[in-house]
Order: sequence, then structure tokens, then C-alpha cells
Amino acid sequence: QPTKLPFRILVLVGLMGAGKTTLGRMLAQHYNIPFIDTDAEIEKASRQSIPEIFAKHGEAHFRAGEHRVIRRLLKNGPCILATGGGAWMHPQTRSLIHKAPDVCSIWLHVPMPVLLRRLLHNRGSRPLLAQGDPVETLHRLATMRYPRYAEADIIIDCGDESVEQATQSIT
Ligand code: S3P
Repeated sequence: QPTKLPFRILVLVGLMGAGKTTLGRMLAQHYNIPFIDTDAEIEKASRQSIPEIFAKHGEAHFRAGEHRVIRRLLKNGPCILATGGGAWMHPQTRSLIHKAPDVCSIWLHVPMPVLLRRLLHNRGSRPLLAQGDPVETLHRLATMRYPRYAEADIIIDCGDESVEQATQSIT
């Protein structure tokens, strides 16, 4: 008998490498509801990869598309929704998530060394890390974004624990 998610939608926010997709998949399995990744939805809708969208149209265009996709997805449910790391930084997107009925936002707060360990292997799919010094970029993003991420309904301090442990602390 699967447990029932006490919300219509769980929205996972946090920096790249925080484990939103991995954790989101596990939570979706636990609650037996769909997992949706906004990056994947944007790629499907535009028939372009995220790096292609950034390269051809720029970040502002990507953010506008991301906002539309999230607006659409928030009307559905139940589901676990993993957002791209910058989605929550877009004021209109953030307010959309806050105002949507029966939606709970969770910030996955993961220590910087853990993020770096995960991301330095796979920078190619992340246009924001593809240029310049990724360590510096990630520190800069953390400084800018953490105060906003902290506005999520729930903060999970993932520490160095595995995704399995983080899942247990949520469910
Ligand atoms: C971004 C994070 C990415 C993706 C895009 C921009 C960001 O998603 O949306 O590359 O601004 O932090 P993930 O957080 O899933 O890697």
C-alpha cells in the first residue's frame, strides 16, 4: 500500500548537482506518482537540448520558456517536479510555485564539496558551468541563490548523506 503524498505537487529546488532528479525519481516511486523534470520538458517542447537553447537564444529566452513550462505543469498533478537550478530565481516563477494550491517546495541544500564532486565530471550538459572556472561559478551562484532557495517551504540539509538517506528523511 503506497503512502499518499500529503501535497498535490512536491517541487524540488536547489543548485545543479543537488540531486533533484535522482531524489525526485525515488520520491515519485515511493509515492507512486509521476516524476517530471522541467529541463526535460523544455527540451521536449522546444526539440532542442538545454545547451542548444542557451547557445542559440540566450538565457533570458530559456527562462521565459522555463516559466511557461512550470506554469503548465503546476496545473497538473499529483507529481514530483524537479526544477532547473535557476527556475526558482525567476521572481514570477517563484511566486507561481508559492501561490499554486497544495504545492510544497523543498530546497535540497547540499555542501559545496559534494556538489563540486558531482558536477566536475559532467559539465557539458550545464551551459552555466561550461565556460570559465566552474568552481568560481558555482560559489558565485551559491552566494546569489541560497537566500532565495531558503524561501522554499522546507529545507533539507542533505549533508554528505546518500540520496537514499535524504529520501527517508522526506518520506
Ligand atoms: C541551470 C540549471 C540546469 C538547467 C540550466 C540552468 C541553472 O538544471 O536548467 O542549465 O541556472 O542553475 P539542473 O539544476 O537540473 O542542472
